[in-house]
Amino acid sequence: MPRPVQGYASALAIHRDIENVLIPRDRIAERVRELGAHIARDLQVDLAREIASGAEQRVVLIPVLTGAMVFVADLIREIPLKLSIEVVGVSSYPGKSVESKGVSIRHELPRALRGTHVLIVDDILDSGQTLDVVTRLVREQAPASVRTCVLLRKPGKARVPFVPDYVGFDIPDEFVVGYGLDYDGYYRNYPQIATLKPEAR
Ligand code: IMP
Ligand code: MG
Repeated sequence: MPRPVQGYASALAIHRDIENVLIPRDRIAERVRELGAHIARDLQVDLAREIASGAEQRVVLIPVLTGAMVFVADLIREIPLKLSIEVVGVSSYPGKSVESKGVSIRHELPRALRGTHVLIVDDILDSGQTLDVVTRLVREQAPASVRTCVLLRKPGKARVPFVPDYVGFDIPDEFVVGYGLDYDGYYRNYPQIATLKPEAR
């Protein structure tokens, strides 16, 4: 007879550490649908222009790992266009830190972006450093267009002025987890945007 593992399971149960849900899953889903429709519409305009000029047409999505992985998985299914995905890895919150410590690129940046339409996707715009660095590096390759999309933004926190093209939600300056966002690598699988109890940090 297998022994019940309930005790173990509940010790790791995420909901114990959650303080407050800021954005429930149905609101996230609705907003992701809107963002996808908006992005697809804008890309179609560029692509229609290119058909007229005979230029090559490619759309490349660049999610910033690891935080954007849940968001981008949902977002791409709301963009009914042929596109490819090229990930970039960036670390700005090593370990248990909740303050941005500067940005380090952990994967090679995608190559061959010349002439393509690029959409950079991140989970959250906080100090703005991550998207500033990634966008600069992408622009060096002379893509036809570069757009940026973030699920969350903390207004007033920007250390570098950065205006994303698409923003899901503006949130207060609180440390949040869930829907891809982590604290010390955990809670990315919590399906809503939430704050942590102080004792969990
Ligand atoms: P920025 O470079 O300061 O804009 O930081 C953006 C990155 O920091 C995001 O991609 C997240 O990985 C991380 N980050 C910023 N705020 C939070 C938060 O409240 N919770 C979890 N991660 C965050
Ligand atoms: Mg991140």
